[in-house]
Amino acid sequence: MRSYGVPASCGRMVEFGRQLPDIRTVVPGPKSVAAMDQLARFECPAITARRGRRRDDGGRDPIVWAEARGANVRDVDGNRYVDLSGGFAVASVGHAHPEVVAAGQRQLATMPHAMGDLFPADVKIRLAARLADLAPGSLTQCIFGSDGSDAVEAAIKTARVATGRHRILGFEGGYHGMTLGALGVSGYRDSFRAPFLDSAGRGDIRLPWPGTGAFEDGDTVLAYIAQLLGSHAMGCGDIAALMIEPVQGRAGCRIPPPGFLSGLRELCTRHGVMLIFDEIYTGFGRTGTRFACEHSDVVPDILCIGKAMGGGFPISACLASEEVMQGWGRSKGEAVHTSTFLGNPTGCAMALAAIEVIERDALSARSAELGERALNALRGGLADNAMVSDVRGCGLMIGIELADGDDTGLAVRAMFDLLAQGFIVTPGGVAGNTITLAPPLNIDATLLDAGLQTIIRGL
Ligand SMILES: Cc1ncc(COP(=O)(O)O)c(C=O)c1O
Repeated sequence: MRSYGVPASCGRMVEFGRQLPDIRTVVPGPKSVAAMDQLARFECPAITARRGRRRDDGGRDPIVWAEARGANVRDVDGNRYVDLSGGFAVASVGHAHPEVVAAGQRQLATMPHAMGDLFPADVKIRLAARLADLAPGSLTQCIFGSDGSDAVEAAIKTARVATGRHRILGFEGGYHGMTLGALGVSGYRDSFRAPFLDSAGRGDIRLPWPGTGAFEDGDTVLAYIAQLLGSHAMGCGDIAALMIEPVQGRAGCRIPPPGFLSGLRELCTRHGVMLIFDEIYTGFGRTGTRFACEHSDVVPDILCIGKAMGGGFPISACLASEEVMQGWGRSKGEAVHTSTFLGNPTGCAMALAAIEVIERDALSARSAELGERALNALRGGLADNAMVSDVRGCGLMIGIELADGDDTGLAVRAMFDLLAQGFIVTPGGVAGNTITLAPPLNIDATLLDAGLQTIIRGL
């Protein structure tokens, strides 16, 4: 067990949120294990077993979180960690950012809930206008959702009503969520879709990701898509949209080759197919620009955002131009697409505050700068490491691919080993062999460096 204490250079009390790890028990500690035993009794096994990798499966229990602020997390056993995962890339402004919390508290005390589409909240209107301000191109109209999958469903429906077509193209390795529509487009794990094939994306088409299988580069994939879109066989004339993550997240930070996204833009425009960018992971500075589409200067027809947007509150949106949204037609009195919590006021207030922090503190630029530094450190430190086959990144979205692609447990074991040393990372990758990092964009450089050095030493 190793206790890092506070950074020696500081010579003053460093507040929780900016502290190095302090591990006082075996990890997971006894309280975490007991809590997981209880959870396993009450939660659907599809969730607890997978997350928990219970000991009877030969795995270890997870830690159970009790407190999170800034880049720090404390578990129920009192151990302190540095969160290099950003809580699934949500905590871009850090956990419990004081301005975001204050905005949420004010809204909770005034009006936590309104009536979505029927009697909307004033704050929902302010957020819609702010998103229109920040969005690329003319994507000035939105549909709010509660989580990422909601935004993806709204995007799929928007593309269908706007084109009058049905089929959606998605990519191998793409992850868009777990609702039936989103699962249909996702290509991350066939096993997620297998029980629902009758309804999840029947007719949707999976495209190869550049550099996989026989498709060794972006041009080969573009040529394949061009052929597909130009063909009238097998219902190809019924393709409504092509959905892509501009950098694949859950697949282990896979970055498309230069020219690929602009090639897709050109093909979609030529064939009247909606180009949907799922920026739920990459949006709001994660890749070093406000939206990842800026790296390739491509404006999609539809943009999905979520995760970091709410500063920890579940809220998401699907954005499109007025022209595309007109595909829905005029409401005949009842909203054709809505939900009880549409544009929830607390979520909107927290999103406005989180976005303000990201913009004011220039966190996209910080993500680019720290990301480049991190990538150099990892590439330098892991250059001669036979276990590592690739280190890639874009801003503070980083993937360390481990060489043994057949050992689907490798990244999970790395995650537990790092956890025992006080650093939280997530396992990812199509083959389950990638360690992914998505720390808060305002993480203290000392904490990030300590994490990187621990990863380099550990591997
Ligand atoms: C790119 C992307 N799209 C969609 C989703 C689904 O979002 P949620 O889990 O909030 O439904 C995720 C979640 O990780 C994601 O990374």
